[in-house]
This record gives sequence, C-alpha cells and structure tokens, in this order.
Amino acid sequence: MSVHANKEVKKVTTHTLQRMKAVGEKISMITAYDFSFARLFDEAGIDVILVGDSASNVMAGHETTLPITLDQMIYHASSVIRGINRCFVVVDLPFGTYQANSKEALASAIRIMKETGAHAVKLEGGEEVLESVKRIVAAGIPVMGHLGLTPQSIYKFGTYTVRAKEEAEANKLRQDAKLLQEAGCFGVVLEKIPAVLAKEVSESLVIPTIGIGAGMYCDGQVLVMHDMLGINTEFKPRFLRQYLNLHEQITGAVKNYVNDVKAKKFPSDKEQY
Ligand code: KIV
Repeated sequence: MSVHANKEVKKVTTHTLQRMKAVGEKISMITAYDFSFARLFDEAGIDVILVGDSASNVMAGHETTLPITLDQMIYHASSVIRGINRCFVVVDLPFGTYQANSKEALASAIRIMKETGAHAVKLEGGEEVLESVKRIVAAGIPVMGHLGLTPQSIYKFGTYTVRAKEEAEANKLRQDAKLLQEAGCFGVVLEKIPAVLAKEVSESLVIPTIGIGAGMYCDGQVLVMHDMLGINTEFKPRFLRQYLNLHEQITGAVKNYVNDVKAKKFPSDKEQY
C-alpha cells in the first residue's frame, strides 16, 4: 500500500486527456505557482495545473516571462506538487533552457521531473524545437507544445496582439501543430489566434488543444489564475473572463484589518490567551 493510501483518487494522466478529447469532454486548465492555490484548484476539480513561466510576471513582477530561471520554476513547481492529489501538473521550460540544443532541453526537462515530481513539461515553438521535443519524449517525459502567441518571443513579435491572422503564419501554425503531434506531444496550447483557425487545428489533431484567447472550439481552456480571480486589474483582454474580484476583496479585508489594529479593536478579549 502506498504511503498516500488515504489520498487515493483517480489521477488525471495524459491518457485521461486524450480520452476526454475523444469523447468530447472539455479540459480545464489553470496556472498555479504555490502549494495553497494548487490545493484549492485541485479540490475544485481542475484537470490540469500549469506552472507557467507567467510566474515571472505575476509572482516576480517582471514585464516579460524571459527573466525567470530554471531554479525558480523548480521552486514553484515543487510547491504546487505538494498541494495536489488528482490533477495533472505541467511545468513550463523557461526561456534559455531549451532553445540552444536538444541535449540542453532534455537536461532541463530532467531537472524539472526529478526535482519537482511534476508530470510533464511545456515548451514554446514548432518546427524549431522539434528535435528537443523528440529527445524529451524519447526519455519518457510527456511534452506539451505551445503555438500562436508565444510570450518568450515577445521581442520578435513586438506586441501581444492576436497571431496567425495572415495566411502565411496560419499555414506555419497548421504545419507546426501536426509536427508537434508527430513528434509525440500529448497536447498543445494555442494562444491568442483566431477561433476559426483554432477550430481547424483542433479538428485536425488527435491530441487535445488547450486554448487561451483561441475561442470555443479548442478541446480545453487555460487561464492565468491572477487574471481569472481578479488579482490583476490592469490586464483585461477580450478573451478573459474574470470570475472574482479578489483585488477588491483582499484590499477591502486588509483595510478592515488595518483599521481594527489602529482602533485597538483587534485582538479582542476572545482572541487572546
Ligand atoms: O505561462 C503561462 O501562464 C502560459 C499560459 C498563458 C498558457 O504559458
């Protein structure tokens, strides 16, 4: 019997995700970067947690995803893993840890798997990263692709606007999606592309597509937790549905606490020993 016997549940695997696509059940994915939120999301029934390199923005306050390091991603991912029981955890390979060559890509993926206990890695790009995808998959590590708006290339794009509106870029994306599937990816994120293109790509693949700003026809959806919970208020793209206004709720709660402390209303008689 496993040491986690009291926690036994049907865990989400890459096979679960393929099956969900096959039967038309949509896949829910959200980012998380720490133990406490990962535990909440797992309890809420999320299928996949992405330890995104968006941690660079929302956790560290950087403008782009480029500065975050492999060690920092490993810290976030190992915290997330301690909070989950059922869901599948994918970790972003950060910028600069896989682009140089496939050996380096494999070494980075192995560090993530060994030091965090995560279930898969994600990397950005198509044809350019194919050799790395194949090498990582050959080592037994599940890989998720990421096409469309790939934030690690923001300085090449120059803007966070919708990608693949032009036919040439759309054609490359169609081709890249196929190549990633053939190279062994178990799924692919499609970020900020037209819904009709995402529909076509989703229908052309047997592996699931997970959309962010890619419309309703993807096999699943992913949102950054800080955006969907309303912790960020300044980021309001059309694709974002904000389910809570935590910014207001948290600042309200903390203002009340500050006022109670100043007014000597906290702690009360009952809140002391
Ligand atoms: O890092 C991230 O949060 C991501 C999602 C936007 C898909 O890659």
